[in-house]
Amino acid sequence: MGNNERRVALVTGASRGIGRAIAKRLASDGHHVVLVARDQSRLDEVLSEIEADGGVGESRACDLGDPASLEAMMESVLSDRGRLDVLVNNAGINRDGLILRMSDEDFDEVLAVNLRATFITCRAVARSMMRGRWGRIINISSVTGLVGNPGQANYAAAKAGMVGMTKTLAKELGSKGITANVVAPGFIETDMTEAMSSEILAEAAKRLPLRRLGRPEEIAHAVAYLASEDAGYVTGQVLTVDGGMVC
Ligand code: NAI
Repeated sequence: MGNNERRVALVTGASRGIGRAIAKRLASDGHHVVLVARDQSRLDEVLSEIEADGGVGESRACDLGDPASLEAMMESVLSDRGRLDVLVNNAGINRDGLILRMSDEDFDEVLAVNLRATFITCRAVARSMMRGRWGRIINISSVTGLVGNPGQANYAAAKAGMVGMTKTLAKELGSKGITANVVAPGFIETDMTEAMSSEILAEAAKRLPLRRLGRPEEIAHAVAYLASEDAGYVTGQVLTVDGGMVC
């Protein structure tokens, strides 16, 4: 596949963890990947790994919590590349606390990065995808958004919000050849879960039907499918990749 024919895929939170695995996978599937996160040097490390494997892409440092910089970054990518075919909203944060102790700031920050940023990027790509009559929107939610989790009222609200938004986009954009789906990971081994104690993680793994935590690459496989031509008749769905936690 020549450079001009490569589909362009933007992945947020691509500097580490699940986003890094998604970006590497989409690059190895032949996409030009646009890597987005806050830390330019970490993004450039991931880009070097991609290029070493024969992939192509670019990196864009941006704080997704800041709507003006996010919109400017999206506009600049669209004008430089001419289009975006695949959008993966993966960046996410948590600020956990039981409801009685959760501050307004912790609520707002989690909603801003997980949910509002997803809204802004989806709105930004919609026109370009409609023009091309092809698009794949894949939003990374969480099983917490489906079943709740004590200490995560803000995170669960944001992740459930992503599900409602994605189903709506599936209905609004389907007639233009654009699909919108959610991947909802369970416990995946990344920096986010490393913050939890190893006993809690071991205990959680023991209760799962598959008896282990997931790997970032296992989320990337699901995203690669939803981004592919083969998934053209799949839209408005939530694919849980969670070792059987929610079933
Ligand atoms: P991580 O904490 O390892 O990486 C998060 C990524 O988001 C990083 O690249 C970080 O730079 C980026 N990011 C965070 N805030 C940002 C901001 N304001 N502006 C720009 N970039 C920002 O997280 P992990 O574990 O890789 O998770 C990825 C996604 O998967 C998140 O949405 C998370 O909620 C979700 N998820 C993760 C699970 C897990 O067990 N690790 C379980 C369920 C969902």
